[in-house]
Amino acid sequence: MSTATNIVTAVRIHGVDKSFGPAESAVMALKQVEFEARQGELIMLVGPSGCGKTTLLSVIAGTLRADAGTTEVFGQRLDGLTQEELTAFRRKNLGFVFQSFNLIPTLSVRENVMVPLLIQGTSYAEAAAKAGEILAKVGLEGREDGSATALSGGQQQRVAIARALVHEPPLLICDEPTSALDKDTGGKVMEMIRELSHSPKRCVIVVTHDQRIFRFADRIAEMEDGRISRVVDDPRQLETPSY
Ligand SMILES: Nc1ncnc2c1ncn2[C@@H]1O[C@H](COP(=O)(O)OP(=O)(O)O)[C@@H](O)[C@H]1O
Ligand SMILES: [Mg+2]
Repeated sequence: MSTATNIVTAVRIHGVDKSFGPAESAVMALKQVEFEARQGELIMLVGPSGCGKTTLLSVIAGTLRADAGTTEVFGQRLDGLTQEELTAFRRKNLGFVFQSFNLIPTLSVRENVMVPLLIQGTSYAEAAAKAGEILAKVGLEGREDGSATALSGGQQQRVAIARALVHEPPLLICDEPTSALDKDTGGKVMEMIRELSHSPKRCVIVVTHDQRIFRFADRIAEMEDGRISRVVDDPRQLETPSY
C-alpha cells in the first residue's frame, strides 16, 4: 500500500479521448480521461458494461492508440512510439490476464507459460525451468505436461496468471479475471494475483464489475460513460455502487 511520502506513479493517463466508428456516428468510448496507477498497488477500474474499461486498459497496454492526450507507463510516453517500439515495450513490461484465459489448446500447461519467455529469446531449457517454478507457485505442480484446456476454469486462470507473470513484468493488467469463475474460485484467484504481484516494483490494474472482489483493491477508480467519475482509497466506500 502506498503512503503519502513515497508514491511512485506507474501509469499516468492525461486528457485521453478515444472514439470508434465514422465521425457522424462515432461512439466516444473515452472522454478526457485522467487516471493514475501507482507502483506497489492493486488498483481496480470498475463500472458498468460499456463504460470504457477495456478501452482504457487497451490504451494503457499500447494495443490501442488514443485520439488525444498522453499515456505514460513507467515514465515512457507510449503515444509517440512506433508499432515496433510499442511491441518491444509491451513484451518487456506487461503481463495480461483475460476473462477467457486465452490459453493455447494445442500446447501443454508448461508450454503455455513458456510463450512470453520464448518470444523474448530465452532458451527453451531456461523457459521450461522458469515455467515449472511459477506453476508450482500457483499450485499446479504435477499438471505441467497435461493439456491446458483439460483443467477446470480456476486452474486455467492460474495458468494464465503464471503466463502473465513468468517474465516478471512490472505492470500486470487483468480484464475481468474472475467473471468466468464461481465466487470461491474467483476469491482464490484474486488472492493469488495480490500475493504474486504485490511488490514495491509492480503495479496491478484489475478491471472488473464483480463487486465481490472489490475488497482486494488498494484503490478503486470508478468509471462512468467514458470518464473516471471518482477514485476511492477504501473499497468499503463503494458498498452501494451506482450499478
Ligand atoms: N472496437 C470497437 N469498435 C466499436 N465500438 C467499440 C469498440 N470497442 C469498444 N467499443 C464501444 O466503446 C464503448 C466502451 O467499450 P468497452 O471499453 O469495451 O467497455 P467495458 O469494457 O467497460 O464494457 C462501448 O460503447 C463499446 O460498444
Ligand atoms: Mg470490457
